[in-house]
Amino acid sequence: MQVIRTRRDIRNWRSEVSGWVGLVPTMGALHAGHMSLVDVAGQENDHICVSIFVNPRQFGSKSDFATYPRTTDEDLSMLQDAGVDAVFMPDAGEMYAGSARTSIHVADLTDRLEGASRPGHFDGVCLVVSKLFNLVQPDHAYFGWKDAQQVRVIQQMVDDLDMPVQIRPMPTVRDDDGLALSSRNCGLTISGRESARHIPAALELVEQAVRNGEFSVDLIRRRAIEHLSGAEDLEVDYVQIVDLESLQPLDRIDRPALVLIAAICDDIRLIDNLLVSSV
Ligand code: PAF
Repeated sequence: MQVIRTRRDIRNWRSEVSGWVGLVPTMGALHAGHMSLVDVAGQENDHICVSIFVNPRQFGSKSDFATYPRTTDEDLSMLQDAGVDAVFMPDAGEMYAGSARTSIHVADLTDRLEGASRPGHFDGVCLVVSKLFNLVQPDHAYFGWKDAQQVRVIQQMVDDLDMPVQIRPMPTVRDDDGLALSSRNCGLTISGRESARHIPAALELVEQAVRNGEFSVDLIRRRAIEHLSGAEDLEVDYVQIVDLESLQPLDRIDRPALVLIAAICDDIRLIDNLLVSSV
């Protein structure tokens, strides 16, 4: 496995390999969710490249960036064991040398949900992801569905800019208690984790309600919020039910829809979602 730290070297690596390349962009602190992406990338491509870069441009507060978990040695050993060919691990000076002035803004999809609470976040994501696509030139790129809005925004950017890469969203991986895996979960206290479990449980209630023929968004949202309010120390940011394509709020679940929850627990932002459809 090659560990590559410069843009020049990753370009050289790309020009030397032939066949399909799968890219798994990450910010490190890898867990089983990331490794499931690596696994599928290995099945679908001739070469796997994983990037590890905690991207300062997508963080609102400096302290969130500074405290983001970093576990480089463990990450590299997991990737080595998984048969990854190249790990691209630039530092911020290398990635943004010459202070990038370009921004990529995907209109409409980015001003709501996570974008409302984290202004500029998706511009930062789009900038770094498009730089990674330009440098690695992958045939396929793998993203976790836990960040459903991110997947939707990146897909839109790729379509709008005719980027020659296929986006492959992969299912959320969960712990035994249902909590969606996230690099941030390691910061939860025992009682915080108890509270956080209300998030997947609320989504399960929603799934059950839709299965039982309940399509009123108002009613379903109220049920989910009521369940979440039973959790101590869980500050709900939003529970939204939106159209899968436009991310616009719905009144009724009469088409493929996303149920999205964001909440703060132990100062950690947790997000999760569920795909539902009335048909
Ligand atoms: O989902 C993430 O880990 C990040 O947003 C990504 C896609 C690696 C861009 O920094």
